Amino acid sequence: MTEERDRLVAAAQDCCRSAHAPYSGFHVGAAIRSVAGETYTGTNVENAAYPLGNCAEASAIAAGVTAEGARFRIAETAVWAVDRDRRALAFSPCGGCRQRIREFAVDGKVSVHFPWQGGTLRTVVIDELLPYAFELPSSRSGR
Ligand code: THU
Repeated sequence: MTEERDRLVAAAQDCCRSAHAPYSGFHVGAAIRSVAGETYTGTNVENAAYPLGNCAEASAIAAGVTAEGARFRIAETAVWAVDRDRRALAFSPCGGCRQRIREFAVDGKVSVHFPWQGGTLRTVVIDELLPYAFELPSSRSGR
């Protein structure tokens, strides 16, 4: 639904403002609509000890799990990024976050909206972003 997409993108854009990214200058916001119908947002948090730090998607998932517990599932998600001067940056979720999203996605058709080149917005389903995703045997569903 275009309305839902626009609402999630706006929430992700808003969330970029909270980013703590003094080292990369890459300020990311993520917004998730859960299957339960709630919206969770998160931003990236960097640490002076560089290997530490959270991606925005991980923060949004943490907010969802904190609120809904084990039943938390992603229905749709959007990400956004801006630089230090608040200019929009094209990117797609990193490999680790594709895995994170897939593990909490209700199915492989969950839409991921992200800002792409030329000021466009791309929508790609998670199974296309991360084909052959890792799954533990215990959580495998008909594969
Ligand atoms: N980052 C995210 O928050 N999400 C992604 O999908 C890609 C990268 C963050 C991590 C780091 O704080 C900054 O962007 C630059 O890599």
